[in-house]
Amino acid sequence: MIHSLPALPYSPDALAPVLSAETIDFHYGKHFQTYIDNLNRMIEGSPYEDMEIEEIVMKAGGAVFNNAAQAWNHNFYFQTLSPSPVEIPAVLEEKLVKAFGSVADFKTEFNKAAATLFGSGWAWLCKDKDENLVIVQTQNADNPMTQGLKPLLTVDVWEHAYYIDYRNRRAAYLEAIWNLIDWEKVAGRL
Ligand SMILES: [Fe+2]
Repeated sequence: MIHSLPALPYSPDALAPVLSAETIDFHYGKHFQTYIDNLNRMIEGSPYEDMEIEEIVMKAGGAVFNNAAQAWNHNFYFQTLSPSPVEIPAVLEEKLVKAFGSVADFKTEFNKAAATLFGSGWAWLCKDKDENLVIVQTQNADNPMTQGLKPLLTVDVWEHAYYIDYRNRRAAYLEAIWNLIDWEKVAGRL
């Protein structure tokens, strides 16, 4: 199957000023597209050719894994953003309070994980096998599904996610990104 770039659920300039249209143009339109193009090229004629991206992430290694996981991670990230954020649904808020003490404490802990991730990678909120919420850091393309965790929310902390708008100020990007989270979608993944 040929994988294609999934449509954004908002216009490219809708997330400004938190994420500018230029950031979306480069991050979604170029970086994400390149992962999709690389994946399509690499899986042609291989056992991965007819698999959905999630299955490739769970089964592949090396460059095929890297491009499939980056495609999956980027879609998950972009689909979780919204120009019109909603309140955190009660079912999710209860779980965040139980796991981290409060929503504010959760955000602080999540941002600490995202800020201290050395180099390129992702910060995640996941549900583990015992239904507990956990914060996870992954390097480069890595995805927590391969550790048996269910992703609920991710923030891209590769420099390409924030450098146009925030330069080297990763912490400023991490503070601002909370204004774009579609909590209904996050809760829907519980
Ligand atoms: Fe990215």
